[in-house]
Amino acid sequence: MHPGFLPFAMPDIGEAEIESVVETLRSGWLTTGPKVRRFEEDFAEYVGCQHAVAVNSATAALHLALGAVGVQEGDEVLVPTMTFAATAEVVLYFKARPVLVDCRPETLNLDPDQLEKAITAKTKAIMPVHIAGQACDMDRILEIASDYDLRVIEDAAHALPARYREKMIGRIGDITCFSFYATKTITTGEGGMAVTENPEWAERMRIMGLHGISKDAWKRYTAEGSWYYEILYPGFKYNLTDIAAAIGIEQLKKCTHFWEVRQRYATLYNEGFQDVPAIITPYVAPEVQHAWHLYVIQLDLERLRIGRNEFIALLKQEGIGTSVHFIPLHLHPYYRDTFGYGPADFPHASFAFERIVSLPIYPKMTDADVQRVIDTVRSLVRRYRR
Ligand SMILES: Cc1ncc(COP(=O)(O)O)c(C=O)c1O
Repeated sequence: MHPGFLPFAMPDIGEAEIESVVETLRSGWLTTGPKVRRFEEDFAEYVGCQHAVAVNSATAALHLALGAVGVQEGDEVLVPTMTFAATAEVVLYFKARPVLVDCRPETLNLDPDQLEKAITAKTKAIMPVHIAGQACDMDRILEIASDYDLRVIEDAAHALPARYREKMIGRIGDITCFSFYATKTITTGEGGMAVTENPEWAERMRIMGLHGISKDAWKRYTAEGSWYYEILYPGFKYNLTDIAAAIGIEQLKKCTHFWEVRQRYATLYNEGFQDVPAIITPYVAPEVQHAWHLYVIQLDLERLRIGRNEFIALLKQEGIGTSVHFIPLHLHPYYRDTFGYGPADFPHASFAFERIVSLPIYPKMTDADVQRVIDTVRSLVRRYRR
């Protein structure tokens, strides 16, 4: 590996997180308890929502959210093809069908026009994914949901803190799910949060996330608890630990600062590539506040003598880690073979996939790191331009 390798992503864990974890370890309470409650309260306040349910991944949150709004076997759920495995796989947990939808070419977000065309009598819900941290066209999506009586479960794994028309993501759809995976804008190692204004859905997610058991199980073993519990449904084991929440509480305090750093780096990248026609910088819609979880460029392949894969390999040789978000679901063997999807079914996602590269963007990077990425990309373009 290159001696000064710049990783694609890295968490920013400080002394406060380390002390908070040590304190939790010393407290004797490791699993779901007071730290998780506090993390949920702080998160609800930060986003401005009524109910926040902490779980051990965004995938778990999405699963619980679909269950809470009543997705069942045989239903259809509209999912963008430009997303990670998790968004669609949770639909399959119900023996329901994820119906894939193409993206808009400029934002890579779900295209509402294609969404509407995919609705059938079986459609139950829409799962908008705010790619890279840029909100989808939520006005159109909510309008379609209301016209066809569909629930909106937002995959906001990338979208903390993000806004759409001044409103925080987390206050828009029926249920919104966030991720605290190690590379996300704040982390608990692994973790997730489902937020909603609806107390019944919140309660249902709490119950199903802990074995379908009727009440705060963690209280059972404290002075205020009792041994008695009832299983209401066959649930899941999705609870977050207090050890993880101890990290989350401290990370959340830094969330706005982290975002400011990411935003500044995005601006440096935009300026750094302004006069490079082969590099198409991310389009940001005027009505959004972008979370900048990812900085996704698109290569203008007409202007280059190399393809995206070679571009990534050359950056790696120069010591710069990158990634691709995402390989659209319809190009994966499972979705291709099970549903018969092909590249031509989702032309925008298929086209973008050949061209997208995610560059490093995280608070632990320095301005010099960002400049190094800019210089390296520029020199590659100079070397390989047509
Ligand atoms: C768009 C999207 N949705 C969901 C997830 C799943 O998040 P988690 O790893 O917390 O389950 C990810 C994770 O990378 C993601 O990128």
